[in-house]
Amino acid sequence: MSDANGGGAVVSGLVQARSRSLDDVVARRHVIVCTGAGGVGKTTTAAALAIEAARRGRRTIVLTIDPARRLAQSLGLSRLDTAPRPVPGVDGLDAMMLDMKRTFDEIVERHATSPDRVQRILDNRFYQQLSASLAGTQEYMAMEKLYDLDQTGRYDCIVIDTPPTRNALDFLDAPKRLTDFLEGRFLKMFLSPGIAAGRFATRAVGVGTGLFMRAASRVTGAVVLDDLAEFFQSFEGMYEGFKQRAQAVYHLLQRPDSAFVVVSSPEPPSLREASYFLRRLARDGMPTAGVVVNRVTVAPGGHVGAAPTAELMEAAAALNPDDDIERATAVLLELAIEARAIVGRQQQAIEAAFHGLTPPRLVEVPLAGGDVHDVDGLRWIADHLTGATAA
Ligand SMILES: Nc1ncnc2c1ncn2[C@@H]1O[C@H](COP(=O)(O)OP(=O)(O)O)[C@@H](O)[C@H]1O
Ligand SMILES: [Mg+2]
Repeated sequence: MSDANGGGAVVSGLVQARSRSLDDVVARRHVIVCTGAGGVGKTTTAAALAIEAARRGRRTIVLTIDPARRLAQSLGLSRLDTAPRPVPGVDGLDAMMLDMKRTFDEIVERHATSPDRVQRILDNRFYQQLSASLAGTQEYMAMEKLYDLDQTGRYDCIVIDTPPTRNALDFLDAPKRLTDFLEGRFLKMFLSPGIAAGRFATRAVGVGTGLFMRAASRVTGAVVLDDLAEFFQSFEGMYEGFKQRAQAVYHLLQRPDSAFVVVSSPEPPSLREASYFLRRLARDGMPTAGVVVNRVTVAPGGHVGAAPTAELMEAAAALNPDDDIERATAVLLELAIEARAIVGRQQQAIEAAFHGLTPPRLVEVPLAGGDVHDVDGLRWIADHLTGATAA
């Protein structure tokens, strides 16, 4: 296996990584966060890691955000259900689907100072908009739920999927952004005594409002002024609770028995985002477990052996196109050559993205024949994640 084009296993040695398996992560870490750009396989990876942790006898829960319908079914989840449910056919594994709106409402119920105030907030149009559309809300809610699950003490291992955000960094920023927003100076200004909802509109055209409106519209698309004023008034007294929990979650994530798994596709944009995220995690002092490059193409090395590509090309050219078998052989050789080229490009992209970074672990998971939506498919992914299947 000395030919650089000979197969993924050989070429992937180029990127320095301390390990090629997440085996010790599923065996020991308490919180595992799967993150990365949208559509790369976060939900799939989270479910596969959870199945593997449960297989090792750890009481495990996977908190999924947006499972495809068939995967949700395989995990025993329905859309309307937001409580932990046992996964059919997998001992020791619960699954749970996160409903953002419901989780946000629960937080309001927990922190608000009176039932009357709870209702005022929940009925508030601005709140309804904010809780549905606040940039980073999903991330924040995922973290809240993680904190709750940890507090129950029922699980050895909590695997958490993250929402399909365009910017994976929202995930770390969300708690801070939310508390900054809720306790910002502009906010205090509007909470000061004597600013009733009725007078808000007058005040809103005054000095300093530009800044406020800019800040508010960064968070949500549309702002209804009266609602906004009322909203802030009814939220008074809740900020401390929000802030404390956001900090507690942040500290939970920073613990050495937590683990961030950055999932990527083998395409350059996704890989670049993954490498950026690795740097960001390091800067925040977060425990990075490593990178999963999902859906890599595997060269048919086992079948065509280590023969140099040039020789394969010659062999294909020498075959007789008028003979059915030889023509078919030529087509297969060309497919093998093309697959090698794809493998080479993907490995170069991985090399370029992580050069000099030395992620603690770098694991490649091959492209499966079809969608991964059942327990067997997830076990197949898990085997690759833990190195149980040689590349
Ligand atoms: N290794 C793989 N091979 C083939 N299909 C995969 C693989 N990993 C994930 N998929 C499929 O890709 C789609 C997106 O995966 P998903 O985990 O939902 O991504 P994300 O959560 O990052 O948006 C799903 O249909 C899933 O079944
Ligand atoms: Mg997902």
